Amino acid sequence: MEKREAATTSIIRGGDSLVFAVNGERFELSTVHPSTTLLQFLRSQTRFKSVKLSCGEGGCGACVVLLSKYDPVRDEVENFGVSSCLTLVCSVDRCSITTSEGLGNSKDGFHPIHQRFSGFHASQCGYCTPGMCISLFSALVNAEKTPRAEPPPGFSKLTVSEAEKAIAGNLCRCTGYRPIVDACKSFAADVDMEDLGINSFWKKGESKETKISKLPFYNPSDQICTFPEFLKDEIRSSMQWNSKTYSWYNPFSVEQLQSMLESNLAENGTRVKLVVGNTGTGYYKEILDQYDKFIDLRYIPELSLITRDQKGIKIGATVTISKAILALKEGNNDEFHSQVFQKIADHMEKIASGFIRNTASVGGNLVMAQRNYFPSDIATILLAVGSTVNIMTDLKHYKLTLEEFLGRSPLDYGSVLFSVHIPCWEPARNGSKKSSTKLLFETYRAAPRPLGNALAYLNAAFLAEVTPCKTSNGVIIDNIQLAFGAYGTKCAIRARKVEEFLAGKQLSVNVLSEAIKLLGAIVVPEVGTSSAAYRSSLAVGFLFEFLHPLVDAFLTKPSKIISIHKQFDIENVASSLSRKLVVESNQKYYPVGEPITKAGAAFQASGEAVFVDDISSPTNCLHGAFIYSTKPLARVKGVKIRSKALQDRVAGLISVGDIPEGGDNVGAKTIFGFEPLFADDLTRFAGQRIAFVVADTQKLADLAAESALVDYDTENLEPPILTVEEAVERSSFFEVPPFLYPAQVGDFSKGMAEADHKILSAEIKLGSQYYFYMETQTSLAIPDEDNCMLVYSSSQCPEFAHSAIASCLGVSENNVRVITRRVGGGFGGKAIRAMPVATACALAANKLRRPVRTYLNRKTDMVMAGGRHPMKVTYSVGFKSNGKITALHLGILINGGFSVDISPIMPRNMIGALKKYDWGALSFDIKVCKTNHSTKSAMRAPGEVQASFIAEAVLEHVASVLSMNVDSVRNRNLHTVESLKLFYEDSAGEYFEYTLPSIWDKLAKSSCLHQRIEMIQQFNGSNKWQKRGISRVPIVHEVALRPTPGKVSILRDGSVVVEVGGIELGQGIWTKVKQMTAFALSSIQCDGTEDLLEKVRVVQADTLSLIQGGFTAGSTTSESSCEAVRLCCNILVERLYPVKNELLDKAGSVKWESLILQAHSQAVNLSTSSYYVPDFTSMHYLNYGAAVSEVEVNLVTGETKILQADIIYDCGQSLNPAVDLGQVEGAFVQGLGFFMLEEYETNSDGLVVADGTWTYKIPTIDTIPKWFNVEVLNSGHHQKRVLSSKASGEPPLLLAVSVHCATRAAIKEARKQLSCWKGLEGCDDSTIFQLEVPATMPVVKELCGLDNVECYLKSLQLSVATS
Ligand SMILES: Cc1cc2nc3c(=O)[nH]c(=O)nc-3n(C[C@H](O)[C@H](O)[C@H](O)COP(=O)(O)OP(=O)(O)OC[C@H]3O[C@@H](n4cnc5c(N)ncnc54)[C@H](O)[C@@H]3O)c2cc1C
Ligand code: FES
Ligand code: FES
Repeated sequence: MEKREAATTSIIRGGDSLVFAVNGERFELSTVHPSTTLLQFLRSQTRFKSVKLSCGEGGCGACVVLLSKYDPVRDEVENFGVSSCLTLVCSVDRCSITTSEGLGNSKDGFHPIHQRFSGFHASQCGYCTPGMCISLFSALVNAEKTPRAEPPPGFSKLTVSEAEKAIAGNLCRCTGYRPIVDACKSFAADVDMEDLGINSFWKKGESKETKISKLPFYNPSDQICTFPEFLKDEIRSSMQWNSKTYSWYNPFSVEQLQSMLESNLAENGTRVKLVVGNTGTGYYKEILDQYDKFIDLRYIPELSLITRDQKGIKIGATVTISKAILALKEGNNDEFHSQVFQKIADHMEKIASGFIRNTASVGGNLVMAQRNYFPSDIATILLAVGSTVNIMTDLKHYKLTLEEFLGRSPLDYGSVLFSVHIPCWEPARNGSKKSSTKLLFETYRAAPRPLGNALAYLNAAFLAEVTPCKTSNGVIIDNIQLAFGAYGTKCAIRARKVEEFLAGKQLSVNVLSEAIKLLGAIVVPEVGTSSAAYRSSLAVGFLFEFLHPLVDAFLTKPSKIISIHKQFDIENVASSLSRKLVVESNQKYYPVGEPITKAGAAFQASGEAVFVDDISSPTNCLHGAFIYSTKPLARVKGVKIRSKALQDRVAGLISVGDIPEGGDNVGAKTIFGFEPLFADDLTRFAGQRIAFVVADTQKLADLAAESALVDYDTENLEPPILTVEEAVERSSFFEVPPFLYPAQVGDFSKGMAEADHKILSAEIKLGSQYYFYMETQTSLAIPDEDNCMLVYSSSQCPEFAHSAIASCLGVSENNVRVITRRVGGGFGGKAIRAMPVATACALAANKLRRPVRTYLNRKTDMVMAGGRHPMKVTYSVGFKSNGKITALHLGILINGGFSVDISPIMPRNMIGALKKYDWGALSFDIKVCKTNHSTKSAMRAPGEVQASFIAEAVLEHVASVLSMNVDSVRNRNLHTVESLKLFYEDSAGEYFEYTLPSIWDKLAKSSCLHQRIEMIQQFNGSNKWQKRGISRVPIVHEVALRPTPGKVSILRDGSVVVEVGGIELGQGIWTKVKQMTAFALSSIQCDGTEDLLEKVRVVQADTLSLIQGGFTAGSTTSESSCEAVRLCCNILVERLYPVKNELLDKAGSVKWESLILQAHSQAVNLSTSSYYVPDFTSMHYLNYGAAVSEVEVNLVTGETKILQADIIYDCGQSLNPAVDLGQVEGAFVQGLGFFMLEEYETNSDGLVVADGTWTYKIPTIDTIPKWFNVEVLNSGHHQKRVLSSKASGEPPLLLAVSVHCATRAAIKEARKQLSCWKGLEGCDDSTIFQLEVPATMPVVKELCGLDNVECYLKSLQLSVATS
């Protein structure tokens, strides 16, 4: 259907206004466009900014609010979390909203949730935190309503498992989730206090009672009022409010609905939208402004009821999935039906996340499945149980089977789904009277996240009626219904041919094999579906799982059939997450070394922390959105906004032609060069910025950008360079300055000559990774007097953004000022990649002389971000028969994309991490290729993570060739002190600093590595469909300190203000700097300095106040900023000493405040700045750590569960062990995202197609290790380090390779077994293989054998035939 533009910006509702409450405040809207989301309203028209926009599609939880509804008849309030980015503001009429500020705040006191999030170190950047808090609050409020026993004082009725699930749909990119889970679990009545990790409430070893007494007290009866009395009164006094026939309709009966539809449909061209939860727009990104009228179906009783009788359960179409789950769980007199309904409910709990299910309707889901071919779970599972639906079409009512409904032509927009009926199943009903007949029912889904919030690769549900065979021990299938969906088919289907084949048959291996063969021909994804063969194999696997226990039941009593199925439950994943954390704090430099709470964590939790997009818009502010290229190389002949209506509402279209005279087309700058802000006449990669469209609101700007038409021409242009091979052919490289190109080690030819074995020219390919900071790129530019520009930027390097802006505007640098207070997650992506965003705003503001801001939508951010460098690696390695490597050569082709960015640092970074082993001799040829792809930039541990992986891949390959245990090959190739010196000339340090060997041994003990290896062998021997693997890996990670400024000022009252070059990204730099300031100033030794920590405030980075801030990158900014601050404090202490001595002589003791007052009166300069320049000889140093990870791979689905991860990481003497622990855990989890989950896919033109939360899956609480033991090692005195500390931001990310290696080990076992089934045991090289990164489910399954089920059955058939 043709899209139309919104006719007006605001639409007047009927006589009624929209009335609702937010945090107890009344809001009344008489005009609002019905397409306005609750999030848009809250963020733009209220002061409540805790509600964050991150994905805008229901996939992240940053925007969750508590929605409360009041039932005046029962005088009851219902509370549930909803995603405000999808909820329409018109649908919250007479509701109350609670946001995180509403729970508590810095003025009225924080809520225990905020306090516990803060104390458990569960907030790093803080962008996800308010949403997390509300998700937990919603769970607490609802738990209190359950009839469970009263919890002990300070706790809630919530269980540990519910506490964990409360945040199952909320994403966090910083913490790795463990501390968040701890904060949530601390409220659960059944929590084991020992299970809660490091926190600022109690000390190690304190009794359980003391611990409980120190937790911020939670009193369930002090509940926040979620529904204000005034709103209840208003509702009571006008129980039935009128919904007038304007743009938003609330029909109260079918008749009203019919007449509305009739009249609207009669009006030619009127576009009507039926709405329930509006969550469908999260997937289909419909532009709602195109609709003229909205009909909210939720008030029609027939559509919102759940009724139950002997025949089944009828669920009204507007019933939410959450309510349907509750109803299905309620139980039934018949055990089997209860089980069926329970299983349907369990499956439904994996749909989306709680805050979506709370508003998403069952009917909306089925309509999306029917009309738009949405890969629905509900359609599949209800199809298997023979459900029927009631629909109204052309104002007539019909009852159809779900199969008929799904199979008919797409429902037109005037048709309404009324209800769905799920029947009860009676064996006798189907003609069978046999009393021993059993009904079996199971549902299945394979998805990247076991707990939900991920669409399935395939889902299935099977219902079978089986009878024990009288003449043998077998089982006869009387009847079977097999439904499959979401695999790349239009709608869920019934596998009729297989059903017919199986009906009446006695189940045997042969019958099962035949059924599976038939199924293979039926479940075939449509052309173009990703991982098509994998999806088909899942269908086979699930059918096998369902029926195979029945084949085994030959020898089992028939009554056991149902319990066999329970045992085969592979989906049971929701068991509790646990961890052990060991940190040693160091008292010597108090308060440095204390695990103090992150500065600002509580107000990050309440949502009061101000990020760039939270700064109120200045008067006249405009909003911008980028128009980007979708072609890799083309002439841009023109750009225009498609519709006239939008054109008229756009304030400007800024492009290369708008760069002022004297300015340059510069978007970003690094020491290696610059990146154009906009494409000129040629666009050179898909995702390149072509123009910046500016309008009154962000929504309008986004709409205009989305609808822009770019006229391309590719005639007579050379083909773009889209692969590194093409770049080599056409010699398209970025120059790497010789001082950055690492030196080769030893003599490669000699090393090869010494080798007993060689592997030549093996290949590895590595893809990209997206930053997925929760706050996307954002900036606000405000023109100032005298041609100056003030820019707020969410940036990791404001100094460089400043310079880029000045170059673009053609002004001197003192005309520009860039301010950054905090960044909602950076991971490298807010360094260079943030600059063009700030520059574009500044350019637009400069041209239009109005403030201009932007907050990139997730899709644009993902398309433009670039991300980690993909690469192709070719290696040749020589080694001895005992596993000792003698020589390694690497040919590495790095895809740098179109602009140079920081890509020339990649060779150095890579080789730095690769040298973690003693390779004998190491030679390499590294080329950084310039291609027509988006510019690649630094992402946390850039190059190092890939290199660490390559090192392990080489060792794994060597071990496989030698049939040796990989761990012993690793052992053999770990550095000695001598080889370390050879490989790391500049950074190896003193011999005692090489802590890796002791970490390596300690970890083997603490993780019980050797016992577990044996247990795993036993497990693998006795399990066919699950295999486990374990792997221990070391890391050596080189970092370098950079010059960094600092400034400390002591105010008259003794409070202290600090500025540092480093930016607070969530990594805790402000916290460490505060600690260092307090420590360093306290050396003045006067009364009151022990409380100095409370007096220190670190303030935003301002490029005119503190120059030369540099980059916040490379893991060392915290320590170098601390050192800069220490230098300042030392100067101040020196200045204060004479004053102190004077006072001391007079009074005998000196208080800090009196000292400062006196110093002020004596005109002592109490402000100083410094520029810390690290000593060249010791600026590089090495970080060490090791990890053991154990995984379990499911051979049917390819799912990998991380059972346990143990880490020991050397932090020197940590400046703040809690902060460093958070960095270790967060980095590890981000790393496992790279190795296991995150596919940053592009199309053949290089345009990113994984452009949102639907397709890009970062780790969630159900994909992190179930057991996570981390020890932050205090390795003592390091003379040349800042107070003996070491870095923690990036190196631990490399440890995640252990998960990948463990997966490879498990797959190896699977492949050995497969060879056995194929009769190839011992005579093939199935254990030599490359495991791709990321090792997603399809990748793992493919290596375990897409046909492993078939092979197994064949082997059974063969053994039966031969026995
Ligand atoms: C983040 C996220 C993850 C999800 N994951 C899954 C998943 O894993 N598996 C799965 O099965 N689903 C999933 N869903 C889909 C979700 O179940 C549906 O979005 C939801 O059920 C739709 O219900 P709604 O009330 O919000 O519909 P709306 O968005 O209000 O409506 C959806 C469409 O149906 C029409 N419509 C709604 N009700 C009726 C009716 N009664 N008669 C006629 N037309 C109607 C509307 O006009 C609209 O076109 C996910 C959704 C989100 C946002
Ligand atoms: S912003 Fe609403 S769920 Fe992500
Ligand atoms: S703290 Fe969760 S995203 Fe940063």
